[in-house]
Amino acid sequence: MIYELEPMIVDDAKNLHEFFNLIGGETNFVSFEKFESPSLEACKSLLDSTKEAPNYAYCIKDKGKIIATLTANTRSGRSRERHKSDFGIGVSKEYWGKGIGSLLMEKVISESKKNFISKITLKVSEKNARAIKLYEKYGFEIEGVYKKDTLINGIMETGISMALFL
Ligand SMILES: CC(C)(COP(=O)(O)OP(=O)(O)OC[C@H]1O[C@@H](n2cnc3c(N)ncnc32)[C@H](O)[C@@H]1OP(=O)(O)O)[C@@H](O)C(=O)NCCC(=O)NCCS
Repeated sequence: MIYELEPMIVDDAKNLHEFFNLIGGETNFVSFEKFESPSLEACKSLLDSTKEAPNYAYCIKDKGKIIATLTANTRSGRSRERHKSDFGIGVSKEYWGKGIGSLLMEKVISESKKNFISKITLKVSEKNARAIKLYEKYGFEIEGVYKKDTLINGIMETGISMALFL
């Protein structure tokens, strides 16, 4: 199957909310548990905030249902920080290992270049070997460590920040 990215629009908010609920229950590597995912209203405002460059939101759908997402935001509109952009990606477990994560990363890089972003950042659990491997494949390097960053099944886990300099 050929997977294609499409820009998300505010009308995708319900679909996005359902996707977040799904992956919240599938993996410990997103920041929310199942049913703690961003509300429908939060999804609407997230999509609203990504309407304008350099922010963006893309998804991949299978039979109309969102199965992967990419969202990115600049840290601040101020000139001193306008060169930086944070992003987050997620793929539903059923679709892991099919190259979708790589497709999302290629989009992150091409959108960043288009918007004159020179530093792309993210935070990831140190236990998320699959994601770290993916980020390293695209040239991201480790910048810092966040101790006791997330509480997963009663255990405090360490997060790491990574960056790609364009
Ligand atoms: C991390 C994630 C986005 C990867 O997506 P994916 O669609 O499986 O990624 P791909 O199929 O493109 O594989 C990307 C790379 O991951 C690495 N990878 C794949 N399977 C792996 C495994 N079992 N163990 C370690 N690394 C693995 C490889 O380097 C692979 O690249 P290659 O096939 O060119 O060698 C996906 O697993 C996911 O959404 N996980 C849950 C949410 C999450 O962790 N989000 C990121 C939070 S920071």
